[in-house]
Amino acid sequence: MLEIIDVHAGYGRTSVLYGVSIPGSAKVVAVLGHNGAGKSTLLRATIGLVRPTHGTVLFDGEDVTQLAPHRRVQRGMAYVAQGQQSFGQLTTMENLQLVADGRSNGRAKIAEMLERFPALAQFATRKAGLLSGGQRQQLAIARALITEPKLLILDEPTEGIQPTIVAEIEATIMDLAEGGLSVLLVEQHIGFALEAAEKYVVLASGRVTQTGFGGRASLGAVRDAMVI
Ligand SMILES: Nc1ncnc2c1ncn2[C@@H]1O[C@H](COP(=O)(O)OP(=O)(O)O)[C@@H](O)[C@H]1O
Ligand SMILES: [Mg+2]
Repeated sequence: MLEIIDVHAGYGRTSVLYGVSIPGSAKVVAVLGHNGAGKSTLLRATIGLVRPTHGTVLFDGEDVTQLAPHRRVQRGMAYVAQGQQSFGQLTTMENLQLVADGRSNGRAKIAEMLERFPALAQFATRKAGLLSGGQRQQLAIARALITEPKLLILDEPTEGIQPTIVAEIEATIMDLAEGGLSVLLVEQHIGFALEAAEKYVVLASGRVTQTGFGGRASLGAVRDAMVI
């Protein structure tokens, strides 16, 4: 589905990623690493918000490295940025409608999301800016899912969210992964990330320093790789 080959990327003259590769063999991949390691930059390069200076992003066998983000969305990628982003002045429902409008099954997808995330149904007419962090994260994920992606790119979906809602969001991600959706997940909760992922990569200073299979058995190896 997604394969990243030797990607170098950064911002202007600042290099951040130095030859990052992720093999295409796993459906759910966790990207781990400390703050500033380049995790978000890698996700931005994957969706096309950052253009690699070198390397290739393959999606479904197609080289999408030079494609604009919306073209990648059309091909089945969806991206949920770090920080529970939505349009704060619009209601929950309006945020969903923005994505659903123009899609033949838009109404059905909204109904599906309101069923999946009961809090969004409960606060359908509330401005998104007044939702809790967890609810805004659910809204951001719902917006992504309305586009019926084949690959969901999630940047720290549980960051800054109260523990009760963290469990709900984790359950959603597990459910989506078990339902066959491919997921590229950046997550600080290493235990959960390994549980969800088939493969993981550890990034440090823009390089992959460790990679392996998901599962709790990898916890020790990941902790060792991240102690520096
Ligand atoms: N928009 C930006 N412009 C310039 N530098 C940035 C930008 N975003 C991130 N960086 C820098 O790139 C490096 C990696 O950041 P980031 O990809 O956000 O790491 P992580 O998500 O792992 O915390 C950091 O040194 C950060 O300061
Ligand atoms: Mg980040």
